[in-house]
Amino acid sequence: MKIHLSRPDITQREIDAVCEVLRTPNLSLGPKVGEFEQAFAEYIGRKRAISINSGTSGLFLCMLALGIGPGDEVITTPFTFIATVNSVLMVGAKPVLVDIDPDSMNIDPAKIEAKINKKTKAIMPVEVFGNPTGFDKICEIADRRKVMVIEDSCEALGSCLNGMKVGTFGKVSLFAFYPNKQMTTGEGGMILTDDDDVADMCISLRNQGRAVSGGAWLSHERLGYNYRLSDINCALGIVQLSRIEEFKAKRKQVAKWYYEMHADDNRLIVPKEPDNCDMSWFVFVVRLKEQFNLQQRNSILETMKNEGIQVSNYFAPVHLQPFMTKQFGYKRGDFPITEAVCDRTIALPFYNNLSKDKIATVSKTLKGILNKYS
Ligand SMILES: Cc1ncc(COP(=O)(O)O)c(C=O)c1O
Repeated sequence: MKIHLSRPDITQREIDAVCEVLRTPNLSLGPKVGEFEQAFAEYIGRKRAISINSGTSGLFLCMLALGIGPGDEVITTPFTFIATVNSVLMVGAKPVLVDIDPDSMNIDPAKIEAKINKKTKAIMPVEVFGNPTGFDKICEIADRRKVMVIEDSCEALGSCLNGMKVGTFGKVSLFAFYPNKQMTTGEGGMILTDDDDVADMCISLRNQGRAVSGGAWLSHERLGYNYRLSDINCALGIVQLSRIEEFKAKRKQVAKWYYEMHADDNRLIVPKEPDNCDMSWFVFVVRLKEQFNLQQRNSILETMKNEGIQVSNYFAPVHLQPFMTKQFGYKRGDFPITEAVCDRTIALPFYNNLSKDKIATVSKTLKGILNKYS
């Protein structure tokens, strides 16, 4: 028995779309790139969409395009995937970490203002696990204090807060398409913005610093990178995006089954869709209650894996990663809410076509292991 942590949802339609590209001479820089970008911009409701080869390269390009660099500060969260914070470091700016709200696990809006100063260029919040709670408050603070919002929406494609779609909160917003995400292109990402200058700069930077249009192939206006997404990936993305509402509904169902099986377990905090959100679930992460410690959580993860069930510890605290402690001198206790959450998370298998039977197996196994502790 093996129940995977995540699995993509690929049908014959995706396979046909990829094969169709393979029969053309346009494997890259062809028509599928623009088609995917236009469909994506329309889905989110923004003027421009720029495809890139990963979420990480997209975040990095956003920083460059917004002119963030040495001497600047970006406020962000220690409870995220490392790429969020790395993108700030990649341009030589300083990430200023702010602890999270214990319920939503998103950066705590109430703690942001104290960290804003003359060097602050942007706030970069993350809709952790697909939950956009607090983004209205963050935007209100950013507007009032005249700093930009860079929305790391990599985990929340399709989510809405008070009817507003994720990806519309930031001056720029960023999505990622690794195969564990709501939709996939294998590897890939998308930058969204209404600002033409920022969009054009991202297009140039992703293509070796070439002019956006009209320039010679071997003429380079600035230092650039090759962060292009190929037509093969884009063809896959076009079909996946057309199924996003189907994906959202399937993931809601899986989350509901998990919730029903665990809601009354007083040893766990079980996630639930907040009232003002329409969630597009990224992962399903239960949290052990306070009486459990890090060692016990790790041992529970190991036992689950030994039983053939893939689980994970989403996330490990960013500030306690070896290179972060070395560079910034962070230590345990600096962000206590993040640490308390990180010590107790268990990400359960979660994907579109996870059957109710398999969920029941996961649930029974987890309960059996927890029973040994109580
Ligand atoms: C919050 C967040 N930001 C950035 C990324 C980076 O995306 P990628 O893996 O496509 O580089 C991820 C991916 O897992 C993520 O979850």
